[in-house]
Amino acid sequence: MNATAEKRAMAASNPEWVSRMVEVAAVPAATPAGTGRLAQQLESGNILFFPKMPFPLSDPDREFLLAQKQTGAGYHKNIAYRPAEDRLTGTGKMPAREAAKLKSILKAYSDWSADFLGERIPEYAGRWIRDFASYRPIEERGRKARLTARNDLAHVDAFPTRPTHGDRILRVFININPTQGRVWVTSETFEGLAERFARQVGIPRAAPGAQVFGKMAKALGIRQWSRSPYDAFMLRFHDFLKENGEFQRDCVKQQWEFPPGSCWICYTDMVSHAVLSGQFALEQTFLISRDAMALPEKSPIRILERICGRPLSN
Ligand SMILES: [Fe+2]
Repeated sequence: MNATAEKRAMAASNPEWVSRMVEVAAVPAATPAGTGRLAQQLESGNILFFPKMPFPLSDPDREFLLAQKQTGAGYHKNIAYRPAEDRLTGTGKMPAREAAKLKSILKAYSDWSADFLGERIPEYAGRWIRDFASYRPIEERGRKARLTARNDLAHVDAFPTRPTHGDRILRVFININPTQGRVWVTSETFEGLAERFARQVGIPRAAPGAQVFGKMAKALGIRQWSRSPYDAFMLRFHDFLKENGEFQRDCVKQQWEFPPGSCWICYTDMVSHAVLSGQFALEQTFLISRDAMALPEKSPIRILERICGRPLSN
């Protein structure tokens, strides 16, 4: 395996609650049983690792991407492509021709990711919302950001503007840097963290009428208007972990290096992660339906519902 791992800090309270790297062969799994295994690996909090770049990025396109420096560094975390609107954001004052080129590469990456994921894990195919793709041209080491936006602190993902109602956040990454690995640290998976911290963070109750309104908004397809108690918890949990100095210092830590040209996929709402260093990565986010899970009992929403004893979304 090319992705290296080193164990540090204290042991996890349960060995099952630590992410592992699962290397996947270049050729697609031939049997349905083989693909089912991949869904189960992901849903157990493991990271699928593809050592050799499966995305066909041409040399001129790669050079174009490597030449991009995000202008007005500002507080845009990334350059994002929104497939549903076919729109690119976060490019600052980039000339129109370059922005169009960048958009076409990100669109190609987004389309490819959907094909790749659907082929590798047919159980998920089409049972998702294809969320944003992003390009991350900024060196992560020493990157300035406000505390809760820092990438180098261990956290699980939650989106303030895109509530998921218990659907899952799956991300497909590619390191296009020709010489430098991308270094992550992972800690315990959501299951272990929730056991330890969920009561401390507090699971919000739905406001009166929120369930009815939430159902209506969901039926109308306006999910962003209907943050469920689950979404509210996940946002608070994200901030809680980043703000918790003791957790950041003492938590279980495994360090991984994703080498140039490698690809990796994981549920970032479950795999706690911090990005320590690396520059030039592509990423596509999928919101996978909670109904498509092979191991639904391991979904964060089901874990939280077990802890608090009531439904947290509709
Ligand atoms: Fe993250």
